[in-house]
Amino acid sequence: MNVMTTPVAPVTLGEKGLSLPLSDGQVHYFNYYWLRDNCPTSFSAQTRERSFDIFHLDAAPRADAAEVEGDALVIRWNGENHVTRMPLAWLEKYTTGTPRHDPADLPRKAWYSDHYPDIPRFSQPALKADPALRVKWMEALIVEGLAIITDMPDSNEGLTETVEMIGAVRPTFFGDYFDVYTHINPTNTAYTAGPLELHTDTPAEEHAPGIQFLHCRKNSVQGGESLYADGVAVANDFRLRDPEGFRLLSEIAVPFFCEHDHYDMRSRQTVIELDQHGEVSGLTISQHMLDLLDLDQALLDEYYPAFCRFGKMLQEEKYMMRFMMKAGECMVFDNHRIVHGRAGYVATSGERFLRGTYSDRAEMRSNYRALVSEGRFKA
Ligand SMILES: [Fe+2]
Repeated sequence: MNVMTTPVAPVTLGEKGLSLPLSDGQVHYFNYYWLRDNCPTSFSAQTRERSFDIFHLDAAPRADAAEVEGDALVIRWNGENHVTRMPLAWLEKYTTGTPRHDPADLPRKAWYSDHYPDIPRFSQPALKADPALRVKWMEALIVEGLAIITDMPDSNEGLTETVEMIGAVRPTFFGDYFDVYTHINPTNTAYTAGPLELHTDTPAEEHAPGIQFLHCRKNSVQGGESLYADGVAVANDFRLRDPEGFRLLSEIAVPFFCEHDHYDMRSRQTVIELDQHGEVSGLTISQHMLDLLDLDQALLDEYYPAFCRFGKMLQEEKYMMRFMMKAGECMVFDNHRIVHGRAGYVATSGERFLRGTYSDRAEMRSNYRALVSEGRFKA
């Protein structure tokens, strides 16, 4: 009889962990706490959560014996009647301390003033009918930071059901929704609507809402163009043009505020926000909600000019997209990345009504992963 034997790789037991060779031919070290805590039996197939509680171990976990059997590492633990069988292919994913692959961690694509015709557009009824289209919508929000939803129902409910396709409505201290409504009185021809400078919304919140929705219900006024710019495009160029200014704006948190009779919201944020890779992920900027800068006055000699250099750069035509919103459209954009504003106008006739709300970036990414990923437990 011909008996096939699998070569058994030696496992070396140490004080705090063990070492074994893996398929790359290298010997890799694994900590005993990590191995014991992540034993496949530690997780409930039903709840998909960790059901093992490492805090209840009386002593530090330590292997009495360990060997490779077939395609798994088998560990017999000291002081407990427990055996761990851990697939070698699974161990190989964790040899270098590299964060787990995240399908929602997509590279951002910067855009400039000429982007309007290329903004991804999705019809609201089509999104409701097709999960694959919702994936494309969320991808656009992650990669480019904005999208336009067309064919919106002319109702409050239409906005809510649009939000709920990618997350829950996220209230702010102003409530669940906000209305920008300008009824132009035909007898008042001198009515003037001032410009609104480029900003991100509610910077005074500890965690400003991640995704903003602006649903245009009526827009028959002359003028009042919407202004949008990509904070990632501007900040990436600022990093090259002005490295010291970039360092100040990405490292030093400054105060924002929003105060009236019954609220006093405050936060400290860096103007330029970096992600876990050190890449620009967005901005927090609002001239009308920037509190008095309470930094050291000598530091302000450096900070203020850098802040103004960046603020001027944000206004450059190269970055500024201008267009008129149409009734039935909803702008959906990353409130930490896309700065928005409105050109001033002298209104002579018509109505302008926008209804806005927010949802959360992390919840949108969760919905995206759930649609595109196999996840940890389905693999
Ligand atoms: Fe705003």
